[in-house]
Amino acid sequence: MTAQKLNIGLFGFGCVGQGLYHVLKNSKGFTANISKIAIKDPHKKRSLPASCFTFDKAEILDNPDINVIVELIDDAEEAFRIVKEALSKGKHVVTANKKMLATHLEELLALTEQNNVSLLYEAACCGSIPIIRTLEEYYDNERIHSLSGIFNGTTNYILTKTISEKLSYAQALKQAQDKGFAETNPVSDVEGFDPKYKAIILALHAFGILARPEEILNVGITTLREEDIRYASEKGYKIKLVPTVKRFEDGSVGIFVLPRFITPTNPLYYVDNEFNGVLVDGDFSGEQFLKGRGAGGNPTGAAVLSDISALSFGYRYEFKKRHQAEKNTLNGNLVLKVYLRYQNPEDLTQLGIHTISEHYTSETYKYVVALADLEELKASSDYIREKGVFIATLDDYVELKEQKVKTVKREALLSI
Ligand SMILES: NC(=O)c1ccc[n+]([C@@H]2O[C@H](COP(=O)([O-])OP(=O)(O)OC[C@H]3O[C@@H](n4cnc5c(N)ncnc54)[C@H](OP(=O)(O)O)[C@@H]3O)[C@@H](O)[C@H]2O)c1
Repeated sequence: MTAQKLNIGLFGFGCVGQGLYHVLKNSKGFTANISKIAIKDPHKKRSLPASCFTFDKAEILDNPDINVIVELIDDAEEAFRIVKEALSKGKHVVTANKKMLATHLEELLALTEQNNVSLLYEAACCGSIPIIRTLEEYYDNERIHSLSGIFNGTTNYILTKTISEKLSYAQALKQAQDKGFAETNPVSDVEGFDPKYKAIILALHAFGILARPEEILNVGITTLREEDIRYASEKGYKIKLVPTVKRFEDGSVGIFVLPRFITPTNPLYYVDNEFNGVLVDGDFSGEQFLKGRGAGGNPTGAAVLSDISALSFGYRYEFKKRHQAEKNTLNGNLVLKVYLRYQNPEDLTQLGIHTISEHYTSETYKYVVALADLEELKASSDYIREKGVFIATLDDYVELKEQKVKTVKREALLSI
């Protein structure tokens, strides 16, 4: 099979856009022509001649010679407008924009079908780790039990530095920003939105589920305190922000993003700094682990290049898990085992905590190890942030709510 000639219109020439330009220029054996690059700021200094650029998106989208749009801008809503128009005009699209994808997956998939075009987005999940194509091609016929990992380099960098090098949260965040891992506004990373978008995309390829961001709990690391780090260290845990997608026997699938206490027996324990890791547990292959660079111009540019190269051979995602006979459904009715540092006993009732196995209270530090109801945590995610509660899952304990065996009366919690 010979490669089809691609004429690329590129949107964005920031970290990833320039990374793609670099890897494309330096890759052996594959050539694709970037016809024009759309950018936004007319005052920025550029490393290429002015004739390479345009500020008018129509110059790219209306050009019939451009058959591929590579969308690498940092504005999810404008990216959606660009991608929608490109697909509607019969152009293939490669994008790295996880927020846009997770928010508009259903409409985008419909557009690719209506217009018989391909939409690829390996770079949107875990940078250079080839997880989407692995799920699509390697796991196409194998039932997956769970998928979890470290999908966000910024928070992993902050957690590594606060725990191993005892930097304060603010110092670690500043360092991550200085090194270019964290954006000036890091909310999407540190509050767990970014890994949630990635989990939603991966859930589509691993389980055939189309979940919407508002259906999924994301709790980040902004409420982490010295006491939580000390608790984890004394027990031999590291703290990681871990998105989890887990399938149960009845075909229901739970998705959530929460900090997790990780033991040294878990491969994620050894994923530090800006690195990402993905754990996939399959029916036949058992547990497999992929580790790599989750961000940065060249690693992310390499994932975009891989999509462009695949496109030149006519590649499309087939969403095989979506079309298989066995259907999975999203289910938030789960019970998790958590460590939870709180201020007042009312926090425990508000957050659906029960079956307490460990508790400690002093003037300044109160925590429980207990079971928590995912639905109630989700309903109270603003409360968690506002009250400074820190919560982390433990022991990989996640069960369907019906399976919980022992509960205590809520009122009893108020007396502890
Ligand atoms: N950075 C990473 O490591 C990484 C990893 C995985 C995925 N991603 C995703 O990749 C995408 C790009 O990220 P980035 O880090 O490269 O962002 P970035 O460094 O902030 O660059 C953004 C680029 O988009 C351009 N832009 C913004 N609005 C535009 C518009 N309306 N029309 C044309 N160009 C526009 C900017 O133009 P000016 O140059 O004129 O300002 C800039 O060149 C995002 O979706 C991000 O989530 C990034």
